[in-house]
This record gives sequence, C-alpha cells and structure tokens, in this order.
Amino acid sequence: MTNISKTLVTTPKALPPSDKLGFGQYFTDHMFVAKYAEGKGWYDAQILPYGPLEIDPGASVLHYGQALFEGMKAFRQADGKVVFFRPEFNYNRLVEGAERICLEAPPMELFMQGLHELVAADERWIPHEPNTSLYIRPTLIGTEAFLGVRPSRETTFMILLSPVGAYYAEGTKPVKIWTEEKYLRAAPGGLGAVKAGANYAASLKAALEAKKKGYAQVLWLDVEHLGIEEVGTMNAFFVFNNEIVTPELNGSILSGGTRDAIIQVLKKKNLPIVERRITITEVIERLDKGELKEAFGTGTAAVISPIGVIHYNEKDWTINNCENGPLSTELYKEITSIQKGALKDDFGWIVPLTV
Ligand SMILES: Cc1ncc(COP(=O)(O)O)c(C=O)c1O
Repeated sequence: MTNISKTLVTTPKALPPSDKLGFGQYFTDHMFVAKYAEGKGWYDAQILPYGPLEIDPGASVLHYGQALFEGMKAFRQADGKVVFFRPEFNYNRLVEGAERICLEAPPMELFMQGLHELVAADERWIPHEPNTSLYIRPTLIGTEAFLGVRPSRETTFMILLSPVGAYYAEGTKPVKIWTEEKYLRAAPGGLGAVKAGANYAASLKAALEAKKKGYAQVLWLDVEHLGIEEVGTMNAFFVFNNEIVTPELNGSILSGGTRDAIIQVLKKKNLPIVERRITITEVIERLDKGELKEAFGTGTAAVISPIGVIHYNEKDWTINNCENGPLSTELYKEITSIQKGALKDDFGWIVPLTV
C-alpha cells in the first residue's frame, strides 16, 4: 500500500440537482494526483481539494500533446453500495496507451488504491437516481519542461470525478449521426486505438460541423473513406437479419469496454455477433433492402445509444423508423441492471468499493 496523503476540503460544495446533471459539467470536492520522475519512481500521491494544477509552461503535454485518459464509472446500487464497472479493463487500456505515447503508467496498485480512496472521499457525490452514475476520468500527462521533441521523463497521473446523467440531450432516444467524408480521426499506425487526447483534438472540427447541421455525433470512416471505424465516443454495432456486426479492432479503432461487454453478452445469448470490416456502402445497401434492423453505439458515457438516422452521400437514411429497437433496448437494460445491482453479474465485471 502506498501512503496517500489526504487534504480534505473544509467547505464541501453543494451537490448539483441529480435531475440536471447532464454529462461532465460538475466536478466533485477532491481529486487524486501522483507524480513520476525517471530515476525517482512514483511519489507524492495525494488526495487534495479539486483545483488548478501547477504546471510548467514548457511541459510536454502543452506542446507535444502527451496526454492520455480513461473513462469509467462507479454506480450506487439499490442497497446504497458503491461499485465500479470493469476498472481493470480501463487500467489495462491505460497501460497500453501510455506505452504508445511514451508516458509512464502508474502501477496497478497505485491506480486502484487512488481510485478507491478518492471515490470513498467523495462518496456523497454518487447519485442514487436511475440512469445516473459517477464518471471517473483517470488522466496521464507529460509534465517535464523541455522543448526538444522527445518523451517526457516526468508524468503526472490524476483522477477526476464527475456525477453524470444522460450523455446525449436525446437521453436514450435514437441519435442522428453524420458520416464524415472529409476529415479523418485516425489512420493505421497512428493513435486511434488508444485514448490519447490528440485523437479528440483531431475529431473536434468534424463534430462541431456535424452538430451545426443537427447531428449528435460523427460516424468515422477509415482512410479510404469506406470502412466504418466508430462513432464519436462510441463503438458501432449493426443488427442485420442474419448477423450482428461490429467493426473489428483494426488498430485505429478504440477497443471499447462497453463494446467488449456487449460482445460477451451477445455470445452468452448465442446471438450471431461478428467482428469484421464493414463498409458504409454495405450498411446503406442493406438498409435500403430492409435488412438492417437496428444500429447502435456503445460507450461508457452513453452506455448504448440507438442510431436513428445516418447521413451519407447527401441523404438522411432512417433506421427502424428512428425508434428504439428491441435488441438495443434489451442490451441497455441488461448492462445497466448489472451495473445497478438489479441483475446478477455473471461476468466478473462488478468491483465493490473497498477502502
Ligand atoms: C473514440 C471512442 N470510441 C469508443 C469509445 C467507447 O469506449 P468505452 O466503451 O470503453 O467507453 C469511446 C469512449 O470512451 C471513445 O472515446
């Protein structure tokens, strides 16, 4: 066990109304911060009042974008207990991402201890209502001040917490998505498979333009503007009459924890889930023939979000009359029931808060 020093707030903030949480608007009273320096190892692990970090203006994160983050959730179950959903999955993905962008990942024990102690310190922030949770944002940044282009020899690891409700203004209603035919989010050999901040910087302009046109997110295509990659902050699933398809992990798609959970649930139900390359032209052709029954996105923030409209080639293509489909409704219920403790977790995904 690392010694994590604690400085708690003297005046806790007022809690936001749980019916108006939205997504990522509020931060809790505290944050966890730990530092790493080459030759010194991890040091100064602390829980302290949420507030500005002191960072050198020459820090590599500010110039060369050495930033990586995770997104995971804790839930308040009906009996009041607090649980995490798949924290090891997120830890492992952080480690893979850190290796790719040359940052130091914290050891698993430090990550888990910081996570549990921070959530315990801010437990009152975890909302009780259905469709609410505590979103957790572990983040790594390169903090060495040095202007040559090379990996930072110093890393800061922090965990931030934010009570959240629905991710989209639409709630769990189907969203409209824009197939992006000009901009690219990621390319083979790039950073697309890891949760580097740079991927999101690359995605902002397309998302902004799509939003202005009335679309909630962007459907990203591969470098040929043909293969489907993912949807903004979600992995994509297409339900055809004879198969359920999600794009295979090709090195430029993020390996989503929710994607993996949905694949496991579908396999357990003996449903025909296939991970393969799927093109936008196949989706549109099969939609046109009436073979596409449902489409949905999966992600920690949105859980499962039905896709009601795909804009492609100057046309809005409607799926399932823009209504919630039976499979996405069932999967949403199953995953959220496991998270909230209403359904037994046969998968080993739920980790109770222990301090
Ligand atoms: C680009 C991208 N793809 C997919 C996902 C879904 O991943 P997960 O289910 O782990 O949240 C996210 C969200 O984190 C994302 O940002």
